[in-house]
Amino acid sequence: MNLIKDSFEFGLHTQIHFGVNRIQELPEIIKKYNYKNVLICTDKGIASSGALDRLESILKDGEIKYEVFTEVEPDPTIRIVKKVEQFFIERNCDAIIGFGGGSSIDTAKGVSIAVANPGDLSKFEGKNQIPNKGPNVIAIPTTAGTGSEVTHATVLKDEDRKYKMGILSEHLHPKAAILDPALLTTLPKGLATMTGMDALSHAIESYTSNQAQPITEALGLYAIELIGKNLRPFAADRTNIEAASNMMLASTIAGAAFIWGRVAAVHALSHPLGGRYKIPHGLANSLLLPIVMKYNVSSNFQKFKNIAVQLGENVEGLSLREAAAKSVTAVEELIADLEIPTTLKEINIELSDEEVQVVAEEAFASGIANANPRQVSVKDLVSIINTIK
Ligand SMILES: [Fe+2]
Repeated sequence: MNLIKDSFEFGLHTQIHFGVNRIQELPEIIKKYNYKNVLICTDKGIASSGALDRLESILKDGEIKYEVFTEVEPDPTIRIVKKVEQFFIERNCDAIIGFGGGSSIDTAKGVSIAVANPGDLSKFEGKNQIPNKGPNVIAIPTTAGTGSEVTHATVLKDEDRKYKMGILSEHLHPKAAILDPALLTTLPKGLATMTGMDALSHAIESYTSNQAQPITEALGLYAIELIGKNLRPFAADRTNIEAASNMMLASTIAGAAFIWGRVAAVHALSHPLGGRYKIPHGLANSLLLPIVMKYNVSSNFQKFKNIAVQLGENVEGLSLREAAAKSVTAVEELIADLEIPTTLKEINIELSDEEVQVVAEEAFASGIANANPRQVSVKDLVSIINTIK
């Protein structure tokens, strides 16, 4: 970016409360904002893990009135959002706590939209299409990956169209986020690795995108370094609180980076792949990330060299091009160490040529790939998908 000619904007609108066991401060935060009846929006996994019991006892001890909805599903749908909206209205709630992974936080954001904006949610797809600000969301993530705890985005699935739509709006920044790394220690390994790869995708895509600017570059590069140093030890032992803390930090920093730096071809493709074939978001990103990096590397050798260095590669004595290519091998080795599948075949998904074409066209039409540092056509997207078949 040429700072003499170009300008940029940046803002972070969520109050972050970071630290081990800071979940205990939730009653104080609720009292500060004067909420009278909060709705906890979570899923059955959190409810059965004991984490919800703990949250409820903290709220009871703090004399906070609350309601609980535990039926959030992975890949949250408009149908679920509408159901929670009814519950929110019936119980006279005035704020929503998204407690869980990206699905719980994105559902909470969806409910916030639905409560204040009647009608079909799909009309709010895209950027700044929501007329009215809804009730506030407090995000308490229990995974390290989504970044949704600080972003202005929610991704909701329209089941009729098998379509994952992104809604982006300044109304969607959570009011506050409690980042308590102790909540990560019970995460299953598969979820830890895949959500970690989602965070890495946010960091790499926002750092290299054509919308990157100095602040998002600084955040993205630091998140890449944190993930490079901590995702393996965190996957190996989720009770490693230092690794968990750094992953939680990385996830949120990468989220802050992509609010303004945006994501690109990886996310453009992972949304239709996830929407149509139920591939978890982090896994879809992980399949695509090295292939898209390979496609993009020539757009900016220096940036990809920087990624390689942050991921711990030794680039001494290499040409700029060779050093940049090391970023791709570093990500491939990380994926191999984490034992994440690298092809659709490995997860029993086979796409016909027609299906590949539909995914590529949907990815292109979403406009997400407009931020890719190297321009992509539908044909390019087709060959990227064919590489992971
Ligand atoms: Fe993502």
